[in-house]
Amino acid sequence: MNFSVRYELYRAFFERALTEACEGMRLRPPILAESMKYSLLSGGKRIRPVLFLSALDALGADYAKETPLAVAIECIHTYSLIHDDLPAMDNDDYRRGRLSNHKMFGEGNAILAGDGLLSYAFDLLLKEASRGERHLKAAQELSAAAGVAGMVAGQSADLCATASGDAETLAFIHANKTGRMIAAPLVMAGILAGRQAEELRAFGEKLGLLFQITDDLLDAHGADGKGNEEGKLTAVSLFGLESAERLADDLAAECADILKRMEFDAAFLQGVVGLVRGRNS
Ligand code: IPE
Ligand code: IPE
Ligand code: MG
Ligand code: MG
Ligand code: MG
Repeated sequence: MNFSVRYELYRAFFERALTEACEGMRLRPPILAESMKYSLLSGGKRIRPVLFLSALDALGADYAKETPLAVAIECIHTYSLIHDDLPAMDNDDYRRGRLSNHKMFGEGNAILAGDGLLSYAFDLLLKEASRGERHLKAAQELSAAAGVAGMVAGQSADLCATASGDAETLAFIHANKTGRMIAAPLVMAGILAGRQAEELRAFGEKLGLLFQITDDLLDAHGADGKGNEEGKLTAVSLFGLESAERLADDLAAECADILKRMEFDAAFLQGVVGLVRGRNS
């Protein structure tokens, strides 16, 4: 099976699980569920759940039994995007080709949609954690990656930084705001399968850096309606377009090297590296 067909298989499997989870959301007032679903079901690439499910599959674990964790991963990611777009943060009017959540529902509802998605994810995590030691550890991994020593810290540093920031600050921002939530699904798969968790972490951290550098490159090229990067510390503002492209190539090569040493068939993950390096959305 070629890479795109397999990616689509995991993505479609996940999409069904997510839609089912949303169908169960009958909240009062209805705008709460509406605003959460608006962002959740707006067709992201689903790269984090796909990494999680595919890594489980590659490690020989039954990924169909782990859909609640996959849903929790995407809920936390989606909440981070809703808050990231708010006027007080990146002030972006568009997300995934549609109006951003606060443009559609207003700022207050967007803040609450994010809060709702985050707390829903923790509901799922607590339920999963009760399945046993491995599930508890996997849940802890995600909560740490999402939290104040992970994505939230990275977003805070991103907010504080100015274009005159240095490479060490940029590395902290990239590793935390993006790297942690890309690495966590891979580490979680390793924890659940009982092997290769730390090797997957090393790979995930590199893939996360690659992911954010290509995001900075896309933003600099004005893809996806982003135009608010001025004055911000990004790979492009710090290194320039050409060096950022070279850095991305180097990281993609480093990802490939790590994958060659894995004890399982990492061909699909190598495909993801190619996808991230060559992405245009
Ligand atoms: C965007 O993430 C935010 C970053 C961490 C750069 P994605 O590019 O994965 O966004 P979606 O989920 O596909 O829309
Ligand atoms: C967002 O980074 C990272 C998180 C939401 C955690 P960006 O601000 O660069 O992402 P985009 O460009 O808005 O998707
Ligand atoms: Mg941002
Ligand atoms: Mg942004
Ligand atoms: Mg960006």
